Parts: sequence; structure tokens; C-alpha cells
Amino acid sequence: MLALTCALLGAGVAAPGLAAAEPATPGDDGEAWIGDAVCRGCHVVEASHWDGTVHARAFAHPRTPAEQRACEACHGPGGKHLASPTDPAGILAFTSGSNAPVEAQNDACLSCHAGGGRIHWTGSRHEMADVACSDCHNPMASESRTSMMRESTVSRTCFGCHPEQRAQFRKRSHMPLLEGKVSCEDCHQPHGSPVDPLLRGDSTNDVCYTCHADKRGPFLWEHAPVRDSCTNCHHPHGSNHVRLLVTTPTLLCQTCHSQLDHPSDLISGGNLTGGVAPDERALNRGCVGCHVQIHGSNHPSGPLFHR
Ligand code: HEC
Ligand code: HEC
Ligand code: HEC
Ligand code: HEC
Ligand code: HEC
Ligand code: HEC
Ligand code: HEC
Ligand code: HEC
Ligand code: HEC
Ligand code: HEC
Repeated sequence: MLALTCALLGAGVAAPGLAAAEPATPGDDGEAWIGDAVCRGCHVVEASHWDGTVHARAFAHPRTPAEQRACEACHGPGGKHLASPTDPAGILAFTSGSNAPVEAQNDACLSCHAGGGRIHWTGSRHEMADVACSDCHNPMASESRTSMMRESTVSRTCFGCHPEQRAQFRKRSHMPLLEGKVSCEDCHQPHGSPVDPLLRGDSTNDVCYTCHADKRGPFLWEHAPVRDSCTNCHHPHGSNHVRLLVTTPTLLCQTCHSQLDHPSDLISGGNLTGGVAPDERALNRGCVGCHVQIHGSNHPSGPLFHR
């Protein structure tokens, strides 16, 4: 690092010459824009990393004056930094060691990306928690195939700060996220959403229907808790019970049902397989052994989800 810094400072001697080749223009606040050729003179390594990125390719054919600024489009005008490279206040830096306020860092990105997915960024949980764009994105590298994530995949990027959810996806029953077929951003919109917690859809069920369309209905016989929310019975991230259920199949139904004419509450352990009085309601799939269409049914036989 020391050697690199020395090399950079060494190159700095040549920098004023470069600056002359590309005349300094004053920024909005009177600060001088020095042009990316000057940055490159000292930051050879960083520039070579940046060159392979989506931004470098897009900025090569600039559509706006901001895109023309290349490095300075994000890092801001470099005049002060050129005069005193070791003064951290001279340039907008993004790494976690940076002393630039997170808001200033994010504003640099939002100057071009305020629309689209970021429409709900302001006031979102991540924004309120001072998470920076660059906590998830690294525009100086090409780690991921899309969206310039910090890590090789979206989910890995999230794991860094959400280890609990990572652990949940290791439970016995889970959707294939660690297996690479589902990703955090299939269900969550990390940039902000009007639906808590950062959900990508109008409701929890709406999120689930995108992949489990058969559960959408409409059904002739609806099961009220299914319409209310899938999370009444399923945990979206993982469960040690079968089928992502929040509890065992038999107990699950009993959390809400206790009929007199068709007792749904099991009396004792003797009702289980191998007990003295095994009860079919406790065997195999439990209640859903008979109430098969538990998510809703269209069968004329009636509202009991048997067929
Ligand atoms: C004269 C050489 C020189 C030029 C030209 C130069 N830099 Fe630097 N830059 C440095 C040195 C040296 C450091 C390391 C400072 C330190 O470690 O304290 C640095 C550090 C940085 C940092 C990290 C700051 C931090 O606090 O971690 C950023 C970001 C940066 N430069 C961007 C740029 C950009 C963008 C340009 C062009 C507008 C540019 N530099 C032009 C020499 C230069
Ligand atoms: C699209 C915005 C963007 C552009 C354009 C951009 N950078 Fe960066 N740069 C960043 C972000 C974000 C980081 C922080 C990356 C990280 O967290 O590791 C960074 C980090 C750096 C650092 C500090 C590296 C470190 O380890 O602290 C330097 C130096 C730097 N950039 C130089 C440049 C130069 C030179 C260019 C032009 C060739 C450039 N950047 C173009 C956004 C940008
Ligand atoms: C000067 C405008 C500008 C600035 C500033 C800027 N970007 Fe971009 N960004 C673009 C353009 C242009 C594209 C290319 C895609 C497009 O055409 O929309 C892009 C693409 C992206 C993409 C999508 C990459 C992909 O693989 O599809 C991400 C992620 C991104 N930018 C993040 C950032 C972050 C984070 C910052 C701040 C550190 C930032 N951008 C700053 C203009 C900008
Ligand atoms: C908590 C993590 C996280 C943070 C913080 C974050 N992003 Fe993203 N971003 C993602 C993920 C995941 C994707 C890819 C999924 C997608 O396409 O929506 C993405 C995609 C993008 C894209 C390309 C796709 C699109 O929506 O246009 C851009 C541009 C972008 N982010 C900009 C930003 C900016 C600007 C900020 C800061 C204001 C930011 N991001 C903050 C996670 C994050
Ligand atoms: C830099 C750390 C960081 C990264 C990376 C990160 N998050 Fe977060 N996330 C947070 C913080 C901090 C909060 C706020 C926690 C709180 O308020 O309790 C949060 C909140 C959330 C919430 C809302 C939780 C709630 O209870 O409302 C969701 C959902 C979430 N993050 C999803 C994601 C996803 C998906 C990704 C990856 C694309 C991601 N996060 C990446 C730090 C991070
Ligand atoms: C299949 C959809 C889905 C996937 C994939 C998913 N989530 Fe969630 N997540 C949800 C739903 C739905 C909730 C709300 C749970 C509730 O209301 O009980 C939630 C809640 C959360 C919360 C709030 C706290 C909590 O646990 O209830 C965080 C944080 C979170 N998710 C992060 C993540 C991260 C990080 C990933 C990727 C590792 C991820 N989620 C993947 C659907 C999903
Ligand atoms: C991005 C697509 C996607 C979304 C969104 C999604 N799922 Fe899944 N889900 C899957 C895949 C893929 C499987 C595995 C199917 C298989 O193994 O055949 C699965 C399996 C399941 C299973 C069966 C698990 C098991 O152990 O057999 C349940 C229950 C489930 N999902 C519930 C939900 C709920 C509830 C939601 C909404 C919070 C949801 N899913 C959202 C893709 C998705
Ligand atoms: C009243 C409780 C309950 C609710 C609410 C519920 N489920 Fe289920 N779900 C179950 C039970 C019980 C099973 C296991 C059925 C079995 O063993 O065949 C199951 C199984 C599943 C399966 C895997 C087997 C299959 O049928 O494909 C998926 C996927 C699934 N549910 C998705 C959803 C979605 C999406 C929602 C919200 C629209 C939802 N569930 C709401 C109880 C429920
Ligand atoms: C979160 C609470 C809840 C859970 C858990 C639940 N149910 Fe229900 N169930 C209801 C409600 C509410 C109704 C509608 C009752 C009504 O219309 O009188 C209902 C209706 C039914 C009906 C139709 C009854 C009728 O007379 O129309 C059957 C059968 C049924 N549930 C079976 C089950 C089974 C089997 C399970 C377990 C897989 C289960 N339920 C889990 C709340 C729940
Ligand atoms: C062996 C098949 C079978 C199993 C297992 C079963 N049921 Fe039923 N269930 C039925 C039949 C048949 C009816 C219609 C009974 C009637 O009309 O008198 C019924 C009716 C119901 C009703 C609506 C009538 C009422 O009593 O209000 C509910 C609710 C119900 N069952 C819940 C459950 C629950 C909860 C379980 C698991 C503990 C369960 N069932 C297990 C066959 C079964």
C-alpha cells in the first residue's frame, strides 16, 4: 500500500501537465473538474477495474453532461484532491472508511438513479438505517453478472448484514435459495417499498403468487387464512417442519379449529402412529390427508376442501 501510495504521489508530479492538456473547468460550487485522464494518471489500478464496468461502457457514449465526467460523475470535482491528494475532504470517497456522510454518497448515485426502483428509497428501512448504495453495489468492480453487486450474487450481498435469514434458509424445509433458484430480491425490493418489510408486491400473498400461481384462485370455496396471508401457516425463509409450515401439520390446524362435532383437538400421544388408539387425523399428512385442497377448492361437493 505504501509503495502504491508513493507511486501515486510520484505520478502526481506529472499530473499538472495532464491537467493543462485537459483544461480545468469550474464545478457548480466553483470547484474544478479535472477530467478522468488526470485521475488515471495516479489511479492506474482503480481505473483499470472501472474500465470493465457497465458505467464505463455507458459513459463512453455520454448522453448527458454528467456522464461525460466519468470518474467525477460519482466522486465529484477533483480540483481540491489534485492539489492535496492526502486530504480526505478533497474528494467524495465511498468505502466504509470514508468520512463523507452516507447521504452525500447516496446523493451522488441518485443524481442519475433517482427514478425506477429507487422511487421509494427515501424513507425506506435501508435509507433510514444509513445503508449506502455502495454497501450493496461496487461500481469499481464486476463481482456479479448483473447489477454490480458487492458479492457474486444478490443473496450473498444480503447475507453480510442479515445472517439470521441466511441461517433460516438452512433449515430442513426451505425454498431453493442457497441452491441458486430463488433470491432475496425475488420477494424483496431492497431499494424501498410501500409494503413492509420491503416486499416486492402489493401484499405478501401477491409476492407468493408470482411463483405459486396455482394458489391464487379464485376458488369457489376459499379458506379464509389463505386469502389473509400465506404466512399464517408458512414461514417464507425456512422451517424445521415439512413444507415450510410454522408448526407440525396437526397442531397447525388446531391453532384455529376446535369443533365439537368433528373434534380437531387430539387427546393424547396415544393417537399418534404406534400409539394405543392411532387416529387418522394424526397420521401421515395429518388433517390435509382428508382436507386435501387446503388452499381452496372448486369442487361441488362442498366447502370442506376434501376434493
Ligand atoms: C496526483 C495524483 C492523484 C490524482 C491526479 C488523483 N488522485 Fe485520488 N488519490 C491519490 C492518492 C495518493 C490517494 C491516497 C490518499 C491517502 O491514502 O490518504 C488518493 C485517494 C483517492 C480516493 C480515496 C479517498 C479516501 O478517503 O479513501 C479516491 C476516491 C480518489 N483518490 C479518487 C480520485 C479521482 C476521482 C481522481 C480524479 C478526479 C483522482 N483521485 C485523482 C492521488 C491522486
Ligand atoms: C458509478 C460511480 C463511480 C465511478 C464512475 C467511479 N467510481 Fe470510484 N468508487 C465508486 C464507489 C462506490 C467506490 C467504493 C467502492 C468500494 O466500496 O469498494 C469507489 C472507490 C474508488 C476509490 C477508492 C478505492 C478504495 O479502495 O478505497 C478510488 C481511488 C476510485 N474509486 C477511483 C476512481 C477512478 C479513478 C474512477 C474513474 C476511472 C472512478 N473511481 C469512477 C464509485 C465510482
Ligand atoms: C452520471 C450518471 C450516473 C451516476 C452518477 C451513477 N450511475 Fe449507475 N448507471 C448509469 C448509467 C447510464 C447506467 C447504464 C444503464 C442504463 O443505461 O441505465 C448505470 C447502471 C447502473 C447499474 C446497473 C448495472 C447493470 O449491470 O445493469 C447499477 C447497479 C448502478 N448504475 C449503480 C450506481 C451506483 C451505486 C452509483 C453511485 C456510486 C451510480 N450508479 C452512479 C449512470 C449513472
Ligand atoms: C440493500 C442492498 C441495496 C442497496 C442499499 C441499494 N441497492 Fe441497488 N440493487 C440491489 C439489488 C439486489 C439489485 C438487483 C435487483 C434489481 O434489479 O432490482 C439492485 C439493482 C440496482 C440497479 C439496476 C436495476 C435498476 O433497478 O435499475 C440500480 C441502477 C441500482 N440498484 C441503484 C442503486 C442506488 C442508486 C442505490 C442507493 C440509493 C442502491 N441501488 C442501493 C440492492 C441494493
Ligand atoms: C450494509 C448492511 C445491509 C445490507 C448489505 C443489506 N441490509 Fe437489509 N437491512 C439493514 C439494516 C441496518 C436494516 C434495518 C434493520 C432494522 O431496522 O431493524 C435492514 C432492513 C431490511 C429489511 C426490513 C426488515 C424489517 O423488519 O422491516 C429487509 C426486508 C431487508 N433489510 C432485506 C435486505 C435484502 C433483501 C438485502 C440484499 C439485497 C439486504 N437487506 C442487504 C442492513 C443491510
Ligand atoms: C419467498 C419470498 C422471500 C424470500 C426469497 C426472502 N424473503 Fe425475507 N421475507 C419474506 C416475507 C413474506 C417476509 C415477511 C414475513 C412476515 O410477515 O412474517 C420477510 C421478512 C424479512 C425480514 C424481516 C424480518 C423477518 O425475518 O421477518 C428480513 C430482514 C428479510 N425478510 C430478509 C431477507 C433476506 C436477506 C433474504 C435473502 C437471504 C430474504 N429475506 C428472502 C419473503 C421472502
Ligand atoms: C421466485 C419464485 C418463488 C416465490 C416468489 C415464492 N416461491 Fe415458494 N417455492 C419456489 C420454489 C422454486 C420452490 C421449490 C419447488 C420444488 O422443490 O418443487 C418453492 C417451494 C415452496 C413450498 C414447499 C416447500 C417444501 O418443503 O416442499 C412452500 C410451502 C412455498 N414455496 C411457499 C411460498 C410462500 C408462502 C411464498 C411467499 C412468501 C413463496 N413460496 C414465494 C419458488 C418461489
Ligand atoms: C391454513 C394454512 C395454510 C395457509 C394459510 C397456506 N398454506 Fe400452503 N400449505 C399448507 C399445508 C398444510 C401444506 C402441506 C400440504 C400437504 O402436505 O400436501 C401446504 C403446502 C403448500 C405448498 C407445497 C405443496 C403444494 O401444494 O404445492 C405450497 C407451494 C404452498 N403451500 C403455498 C402456499 C401459498 C402460496 C400460500 C398463500 C397463498 C399458502 N400456501 C397458504 C397450509 C397452508
Ligand atoms: C389461522 C387460522 C386457521 C388455520 C391455521 C386453519 N384454518 Fe381452517 N378455517 C379458518 C377460518 C377462519 C375458516 C372459515 C370458518 C368459517 O367460515 O366459519 C376456516 C375454514 C375451514 C374449513 C371449512 C369449514 C366450513 O365449515 O366451511 C375446513 C375444512 C378447514 N378450515 C380446515 C382446516 C385445516 C385442515 C387446517 C390445517 C391444515 C386449517 N383449517 C387451518 C381458520 C384457520
Ligand atoms: C379421515 C378424514 C379426515 C381427517 C383426517 C380430518 N377430517 Fe375434518 N372432516 C372430515 C369429514 C368427512 C368432514 C365432514 C364431517 C361432517 O360433515 O360431519 C370433516 C369436517 C371438518 C370440518 C368442518 C366441520 C366442522 O366440524 O365444523 C373442519 C373444520 C375439519 N374437518 C377440520 C379438520 C381438522 C382440523 C383435522 C385435523 C386435526 C381434520 N379435519 C382431519 C374428514 C377428515
